[in-house]
Amino acid sequence: MKKVVLFAFCMPLLFACNSRGGKSKKEKVTAPQPATESVFDNNDYHTLSNAGEVFGKHLALDIEVDFKQKQIRGTASWDIEKRKTEADKFILDTRDLKIDSVQYEDGSKAAFESGETDSILGTPLSISLKPETKKVKIFYRTTPKATALQWLDPAQTFGKKQPFLYTQSESIHARTWIPVQDGPGVRYTYTAKVKVPKGLMALMSAENPQALSEDGVYDFKMDMPVPAYLMALAVGDIKFQAIDQRTGVYAEPVMLAKAHKEFEEVGAMVHKAEELYGPYRWGRYDILVLPSGFPIGGMENPKLTFCTPTILAGDKSLVNLIAHELAHNWSGNLVTNQTWNDFWLNEGFTIYFERRIMESMAGKDYADMLWEIGYQDLEATVADLGEQSDDTHLRLNLRGRNPDEGLTDIPYEKGGHLLRLIEQTVGRNKMDAFLTKYFNENAFKTMNTRDFTEYLNKNLLNEVTEWKANVNINEWLYGPGIPKTCPRADKVRFNKVDTATAQFLKGDMSFAAKTGKWSTFEWMHFLRKLAKNNITLEQMKTLDHAFDLTKTQNSEKADLWYLLAIKTKYEPAYPAMEAFLNITGREKFLQPLYKEMMNSPEGTKMAKSIYRKARPNYHPLTQRVIDEIVK
Ligand code: BES
Ligand code: ZN
Repeated sequence: MKKVVLFAFCMPLLFACNSRGGKSKKEKVTAPQPATESVFDNNDYHTLSNAGEVFGKHLALDIEVDFKQKQIRGTASWDIEKRKTEADKFILDTRDLKIDSVQYEDGSKAAFESGETDSILGTPLSISLKPETKKVKIFYRTTPKATALQWLDPAQTFGKKQPFLYTQSESIHARTWIPVQDGPGVRYTYTAKVKVPKGLMALMSAENPQALSEDGVYDFKMDMPVPAYLMALAVGDIKFQAIDQRTGVYAEPVMLAKAHKEFEEVGAMVHKAEELYGPYRWGRYDILVLPSGFPIGGMENPKLTFCTPTILAGDKSLVNLIAHELAHNWSGNLVTNQTWNDFWLNEGFTIYFERRIMESMAGKDYADMLWEIGYQDLEATVADLGEQSDDTHLRLNLRGRNPDEGLTDIPYEKGGHLLRLIEQTVGRNKMDAFLTKYFNENAFKTMNTRDFTEYLNKNLLNEVTEWKANVNINEWLYGPGIPKTCPRADKVRFNKVDTATAQFLKGDMSFAAKTGKWSTFEWMHFLRKLAKNNITLEQMKTLDHAFDLTKTQNSEKADLWYLLAIKTKYEPAYPAMEAFLNITGREKFLQPLYKEMMNSPEGTKMAKSIYRKARPNYHPLTQRVIDEIVK
C-alpha cells in the first residue's frame, strides 16, 4: 500500500505512520549516519526555554475552565532555581497562549517579553528576574488554537448532557495550555486549583478526587517531579469505581460499568508489572476512559492513564493497551527520554515491557501474537518510509521538525525488538535483573541514547565478548531498516490462522468452527491476510454471513473489516462504517479508512460526504491530517 502525502502537510501530525496513523514521506535515500557527536548532540531543540540557567522547579496552577468561551484562564506561579547565579531571565515555552501580565512574589509587576514566534516551537516568554526573585506569577489564558485541548459539546459525549474537556500534552503541546519549560528533560512538582462548572468532575495527572466537589473547585497535588508532556487535565460528567485498593476506573456514568468490567484485572496487572521490574512508585493507578473523540489509544499520564473507549471490546481482548500505558510508569515516567530524538527509550522499552506483562497474564503464545503483529507493522513502516530513510534509525534527528513526526512504528517496534534481541542474547534472568537496576538507578532522571549504550555495555553486554557482537547495537541505533538479527516470534497461533485463511480462499468453510476461540489478534491476522489476497464480493458476503463482521463491536476487527469492504465495494457494511467514522476520533483507525476510500471516484464521494458530518467530532490535529487526505 503506497501512501502519498506531502511532507509539508505532515508537520502538525499527532501520528505519523501506518498502524500509528498518518504520514508517509516520499522515499529518501541517504547513506547511514555514523554515530558521531558532530551529527548528534544531546541538546533539546524543541524547547525555547533556558532551563539550564534558571529552572522552574515547582508549579502552582490556579485556573478556571470556561466551557462557554472554550478557554482556560488563570495563573501559573513558578518557584524558580538559578543554576547560574548571574542569570537574570526566566524563559518559558508558550504557543498560541495569551499572556496578560507577570508579577513577582510581592505583587509588583515583572517585566516580560514575548520573543519571536517559531511555527513549530511557539513563542518564548522571557521574564526579567531580580537577584532576589524566587517566584513569578503569570496571568494567562488559552486561545482557540491550543492544540493540547479538545473541547467537546454534550452531543460528542456518551451522556449527551454535559460538555467535556481533555488535554493531550505529548509531545510539545503542554505549552499551549500552560506557560512551562516544555522539554522532557525538565521535571518539576505541581499543585493545581481548578474551577469547573458545578456538577462536573476535574481530574489531573496527580492525586485525584473520587467524588464531585460541591462548589466545582478541585485541588490537586503531584509531589513527584514530572516533565511537562505528562501534564494532563480532564473535565466532564465523570464517576469513579474502584477495582482494588490502589486501582480504579473513571468514566462517564453510562460507560462506568462496562469500563469497570473490562478492566477488572488491572489490579492484578499492576502486581505482574511489579514482579517484573520493581515497585510501582506513583501511589494510585487509575484509568480514565474518554469520550470516543480521543485521538489516540492511550496516554500514560502519571497516576491516571487516559484511554480511548475503543478498547472496551467487552471481552478484555484489548487490555494490552492498558499494559502499555502502565509500563510507561517505569519506562518514560520514571526514566524519561532526554529529548524527542531519544523517543525510542520511552516507547521501545514500553512495547517490550507491555508484551512481558501480557505474557505473564495470558501466556507466551498470546504475547507472540503481539510481537508478530508488531513485526508486520514494522515491516510496513520501513517499506513506507524507505529502507534507507534516516527516519528508520532508532536515534532520530528531529531538529527543525515537529517532534510528532518521530511518531512512527520505528521507535515502538524497532525499539521493542532490539530489547527482545538483547533478552535473547543474554537470557531472561540477566535481562530482567538489568532492567530492574536500570529503572531503579535512573528513576526520576532522563536518559539519552548514548548514555543508555554506555550503561548497557557496562552493566550487561561487557560480561561476554560475543554478546556485544551479537547485539551490534550501533546498527540498530544509527543504521536504517530492520537489522538481519531482528528476532521473529513463534507463530503457534498464527500458523493455524494461516491454514484457515488458505482453506477459506479455496472455498472451504470448515475452519469456521474453530474461530470461536480466536482472540482479536487472530482476527486481525486473518483480516490482514485477506486484504493481501484480493478477495471477492461473494467471499465478503460469505464471511459476513458466517461471522456477522459488519456488526462487530470490536474496533480493531471493525476497522480491518471496513477496509476490506471499501476495497471490495461491499455495500452492506457502509452504514456501520459511516457510524464508526462519525463517532470514533482515534486517528489510527480513521486514516487508513479515508485513504482507502479516496482510491476510487465513488469512494471519494463517500469520503467527502462522511467527513463533512464527522469532522467536528475529531481532534483539531486529526482534522488537519484528514483535511489533507479528503479533498
Ligand atoms: N505516549 C504514547 C502516546 C503519544 C506519543 C502521544 C507521542 C503523543 C506523542 C502512548 O503511550 C502510546 O504509545 N499510545 C499508543 C498505544 C499502543 C502502542 C498500545 C496509541 O495510542 O496507539
Ligand atoms: Zn507508549
